[in-house]
Amino acid sequence: MTAVRGPALSFTGDPFRDGLEATMVHEPDAIVAMTGGRISHFGPAGRIAPLLPPGTEVRDWGRDALISAGFVDSHVHYPQTPMIASHGAQLLDWLNRYTFPTELKYADKAFARDVARVFLQENLRNGITTSCVYCTVHAHSVDVLFEEAEKIGLRLAAGKVLMDRNAPEALCDTAQSGYDDSQALIARWHGRGRLLYAITPRFAGTSSPEQLAAAGALWRQHGDCLMQTHIAETRDEVAWVAGLFPDRRSYLDVYDHHGLCGRRAVFGHGIWLDDAEMQHLHATGAAIAHCPTSNFFLGSGAFDIARAMRADRPVRVGLGTDIGAGTTFSILSTLNAAYKAAQLNGQTLSAGHAYYLATRGGARAMYLDDRIGSLAPGMEADLVVLDLRSTPLIDYRMRQAEDFAEQLFVQMTLGDDRAVQATYVAGRLAYARP
Ligand code: GUN
Ligand code: ZN
Repeated sequence: MTAVRGPALSFTGDPFRDGLEATMVHEPDAIVAMTGGRISHFGPAGRIAPLLPPGTEVRDWGRDALISAGFVDSHVHYPQTPMIASHGAQLLDWLNRYTFPTELKYADKAFARDVARVFLQENLRNGITTSCVYCTVHAHSVDVLFEEAEKIGLRLAAGKVLMDRNAPEALCDTAQSGYDDSQALIARWHGRGRLLYAITPRFAGTSSPEQLAAAGALWRQHGDCLMQTHIAETRDEVAWVAGLFPDRRSYLDVYDHHGLCGRRAVFGHGIWLDDAEMQHLHATGAAIAHCPTSNFFLGSGAFDIARAMRADRPVRVGLGTDIGAGTTFSILSTLNAAYKAAQLNGQTLSAGHAYYLATRGGARAMYLDDRIGSLAPGMEADLVVLDLRSTPLIDYRMRQAEDFAEQLFVQMTLGDDRAVQATYVAGRLAYARP
């Protein structure tokens, strides 16, 4: 058994539904003990210390630390790591100018492995312990990511992109080959250790009705897989998809009609969904990945999280970096952008609600909140340890902070990868800041 000690933050429920008072746990001096990859104890140090077996090593991170469940990135493209920060295009143009040319390089498996390693190291450097990842159309792009994630012991979901039209020939599969490749990948990887398969039709713009139907059939056979795709990210995209599927009532109906909506579906963006579509996501248990840095970078819009969370039909919402349209691996920086997206909608996002999205909310979006996303006995021992004084300015600003909510907000407004001191994966120290 090993243990960490320091201030800790976790959630016992959903603050959007039940309020922060009832769901946020801030323990000023906590111990989190871990054994066999899981949390065995969590609580005030004074109560937990006497319960630990004699000789248990307790690493004290000090009063200026904050221990949290590891961050969850519910929408990200590892193959786009090399093209993050590509200038000057909105979604459809950006896909053609930068994304597809980059993804062509993954025909080379060694190249794919190198990027997968960089991607996973960036995740650890930013305290991300679970992500829901798009690979490329190449099946081996999934193999290398899972192989590298397995070495670290990460819980991770990923899938081969399905794409059979409106993309370069060399990036297209067919309805049949995409189905067969995905089927083989599921057999190889889904449920192996901590790895999960996500059936991944890129979006309605690059899949024929036949391919969406095949993806739906595959998901029906493997209902415990995730399903991820993009929806209603930009207005141009919504109009284009409406033209491609003239018989469908709405963008969500395109997916729903083909059996691609329900529990374990994670829809990226969803900025331009209407109320009926939100209602249907709620009713079917599907989730949205809110990707604010990407939405600002591509000029897609400001997702209205308050509308998605409306009390009479709340939708599950996780947070996504959406690398490489997203501009950072830092979850703190992503929360900064999420706050601004709320502001642009005339709403607000409290720091507590924001940290919930980054942890338990993301886990819930992926139907993994019984295993990850919070600190409690029995949960998998994935942790991030933040340094609350990671820059001179943050240190100075923290001295003015009057309460914990203010401290948390300072972190998400000013903090970035420098604030991540350590990342634990399944109870093992997987990253420590030099
Ligand atoms: N829509 C379809 N593909 C993509 C992608 O790779 N990134 C983003 N942001 N949106 C998409
Ligand atoms: Zn995306």
